[in-house]
Amino acid sequence: MPLLFILTLFFKFAISTDFGDLVKTTVRGNEAVLYNCSSSEDLQISNCYLDLFRKYNLNVTSLPGSETDPFQVIRYDATNMCKNYKALKTCANNDGCFNYNTFRALLNSEIDAEYYVSQTGFLEFYCFHGSDFILYYECMQTIELDDLSETIFTECSELEVGTCDSVSKTTQCERAVVRKSCISLKAINAYCQYQKILTSMTGWNQCEYMPCVNFSSKSTSFFMIFLIIYVYFLHRETII
Ligand SMILES: *[C@@H]1O[C@H](CO)[C@@H](O)[C@H](O)[C@H]1NC(C)=O
Ligand SMILES: *[C@@H]1O[C@H](CO)[C@@H](O)[C@H](O)[C@H]1NC(C)=O
Ligand SMILES: *[C@@H]1O[C@H](CO)[C@@H](O)[C@H](O)[C@H]1NC(C)=O
Repeated sequence: MPLLFILTLFFKFAISTDFGDLVKTTVRGNEAVLYNCSSSEDLQISNCYLDLFRKYNLNVTSLPGSETDPFQVIRYDATNMCKNYKALKTCANNDGCFNYNTFRALLNSEIDAEYYVSQTGFLEFYCFHGSDFILYYECMQTIELDDLSETIFTECSELEVGTCDSVSKTTQCERAVVRKSCISLKAINAYCQYQKILTSMTGWNQCEYMPCVNFSSKSTSFFMIFLIIYVYFLHRETII
């Protein structure tokens, strides 16, 4: 497992704290199109997560909510995180159940379901798309160093409210910032890989058109220019 080794090394150097900031938040899923697992499958998934948490000495009998951030200890554990995540997937035995509807049914809360999707999506990205993750990480560092890019990138997610149109706009917006700010051209693919994971878990990949999911030659530059001007005037004082 050379990639895992590289990743571990990379984060020994790069990260001395939690990388919770890199976890992309998600909005409410597209419940109408997502596969609903049976209640026995749901129970199985729940038990698999409880097993995962117990490996980190969280003595829990039901899934903890987002307010306690139960994934924090896992995110800190660059060494065993992926081994444990793989064990979770093996235990669940059905990737299709890792979706918003399952978490919504298990946790009975929109916010908590969004949290589990985000955290699980992050583990999937980190553990199974390691080289994309590194590019994404470097790209986010670059964006963070530039006030205007960072402001726009943050502003992009404000557009997202859980409809095909809004998720599509947010994706287009963020992808435009990535294209403009990040050194590696492959950063766009890395960003899109992450989006593909998240939108498949939330069902927004089944919209008629979703950037990163559907191929398209659509130009985003007009949209980007509009956005830069908009954000510029909105945050004029703080940027200057
Ligand atoms: C899954 O359940 C939701 C909520 O009960 C429902 O709206 C949706 O149509 C179901 N999905 C499928 C694919 O049947
Ligand atoms: C876990 O919690 C249960 C119930 O709260 C308690 O009975 C048990 O002793 C705890 N186990 C550990 C290892 O702390
Ligand atoms: C985009 O992809 C989705 C999911 O694969 C598909 O249902 C949809 O028809 C595609 N849209 C276009 C315009 O190709």
